[in-house]
Amino acid sequence: MIDGYGRSIDYLRISLTDRCNLRCVYCMPEEGIDKKAHEDILRFEEILKIVKAASILGIKKIRYTGGEPLILRNIGWLIKETSKIPGIEDIAITTNGILLEDIAEDLKEAGLTRVNISLDTLKEDKYTAITRGGDINKVLRAIQKCISIGLTPVKINTVLIKGTNDDEISDFINLTRELPVEVRFIELMPIGQGEKLYEDGFMSSGEVLAKFPELIPLESNKVSTASLYKLKEAKGKVGFISPLSCKFCSQCNRIRLTSAATIKPCLHSAKELSLKSFLDNEVLLTSVLKESIYSKPSQHNLECDKKSGSERAMYQIGG
Ligand code: 5AD
Ligand code: SF4
Repeated sequence: MIDGYGRSIDYLRISLTDRCNLRCVYCMPEEGIDKKAHEDILRFEEILKIVKAASILGIKKIRYTGGEPLILRNIGWLIKETSKIPGIEDIAITTNGILLEDIAEDLKEAGLTRVNISLDTLKEDKYTAITRGGDINKVLRAIQKCISIGLTPVKINTVLIKGTNDDEISDFINLTRELPVEVRFIELMPIGQGEKLYEDGFMSSGEVLAKFPELIPLESNKVSTASLYKLKEAKGKVGFISPLSCKFCSQCNRIRLTSAATIKPCLHSAKELSLKSFLDNEVLLTSVLKESIYSKPSQHNLECDKKSGSERAMYQIGG
């Protein structure tokens, strides 16, 4: 469907839970978050109703995120049922990869097409520090597993934080020489816990690119949030996601659903529409979704405000 600014919206990102098995410093508060009551969280059956209504409006691509989507048992069932909905062509997940190795094959069988795995360092101790307790070896094994079973392209999401992981940029880039992965450097956004780190920690994609002239720009023929590069003769690619230094709002093709049953037309806007009262009526549900797509703001203002307009943190939206 075309939104109020002429953009074609065909991508729905769904946060299945705001809970997570890690506590990344730029995302989750150290003490964790309050557990929500069951009735306040969308059930998988309700999610499927929303995906069905969205597919009627031209949504073709679904991404399940969190918090951490793989802490939910039965995610395989959700993926399988999603893949049966006519019009849905692509089902991806964004995960921290901790629980992925053992279930990757089942998820692929269920209809999962692609994974994005968050990994901000390649060093074991630093990983434990950034995630406040995670084991990097589980993530590295999950990446290898996805490659070996052809759950590709595997994309690795790396949020760059000055003073924390900017010393590893070349290691991440070099990873693409032998591994067929796409490492995507993401600019740190001043949202949720990220707000505290932003002032000292923000690093623009341009700053990184200036240091690596060996990265060859690739032409992309599809709308993408990442600008892509490659090292000569490398098996993988390097992407830059630059929500601040190079806004992609004019090409934005997505809306978001939170686990609290609200649609967020823009990641950085407080504006939300609740679907809660419409879940049993496909016609009404479709019409509220239509309204939310049509009312998508033209752009965010992060680079000037230095603060997201969103009242939800990243773990409640899923990126
Ligand atoms: N800025 C940029 N990226 C973030 N993520 C979480 N919080 C932030 C932030 N403040 C990333 C995670 C994950 C994706 C869903 O969003 O690392 O890869
Ligand atoms: Fe969990 Fe992802 Fe947030 Fe880390 S960034 S705490 S893995 S939701």
